[in-house]
Amino acid sequence: MEKTLLVANWKSHKSYQQTQEYFRKFVEKKDQLALSRTEIVICPSFPSLESAKTIVDAHALPVQIGVQTISQFEEGAYTGEVAASQIQSVARYVIIGHSERRQNFGETEEIIEQKVAQAHAVGLSVILCVQGGETPVYENVACIAYEPISAIGTGNPDSPENVTAVLSAIHEKAPNARLLYGGSVDPETISQFLSIKHIHGFLVGGASLDPDTFLSLVSACETRNSY
Ligand code: PGA
Repeated sequence: MEKTLLVANWKSHKSYQQTQEYFRKFVEKKDQLALSRTEIVICPSFPSLESAKTIVDAHALPVQIGVQTISQFEEGAYTGEVAASQIQSVARYVIIGHSERRQNFGETEEIIEQKVAQAHAVGLSVILCVQGGETPVYENVACIAYEPISAIGTGNPDSPENVTAVLSAIHEKAPNARLLYGGSVDPETISQFLSIKHIHGFLVGGASLDPDTFLSLVSACETRNSY
């Protein structure tokens, strides 16, 4: 069975120092992580990328690094933006189209499509966030995360029935993409989603910020991996 993909989206959280403290916990649990069949991706904010990558490499942690967005443009005169080519030696994954970016930063489908192209041009794997079965999906995206807005950060995840229906619809459109669910996934709520047919993993915000809580989500995914 393919590994379950567990993606941490730290959003605008954690200083350099806090990033180091977080990964120290992973170093302590390295033996447990090495046995894990869960694929772990941590997406810190840009200032923490370097420190995260250094610790992961120094301790050979079974963790991959992702970023939460990239510029829709190539490297060049785009003040404040980070081009895909600037982070491709550090990150393997990029989250694109998160609803917080659509809502707060005016990201349209046109911009999202450009970002997907920029990511693919440098070989980054895209985790495309969609808010429902009708949100457009793009060719060759590695992962598609269904994240209903009403479930994000509210403590009210979507129902397993809805998630099943939406993921089935997305699977029809993108049969090769790994499908994730995100929105108030925590150690209490995750179990109801583990056996959903088309689910390949989870995108986790709030519950990824504490390393022990996140590691308990890894343990929950392990029960699924042993089905
Ligand atoms: P949440 O966020 O787990 O805090 O609901 C998920 C996300 O926005 O990716």
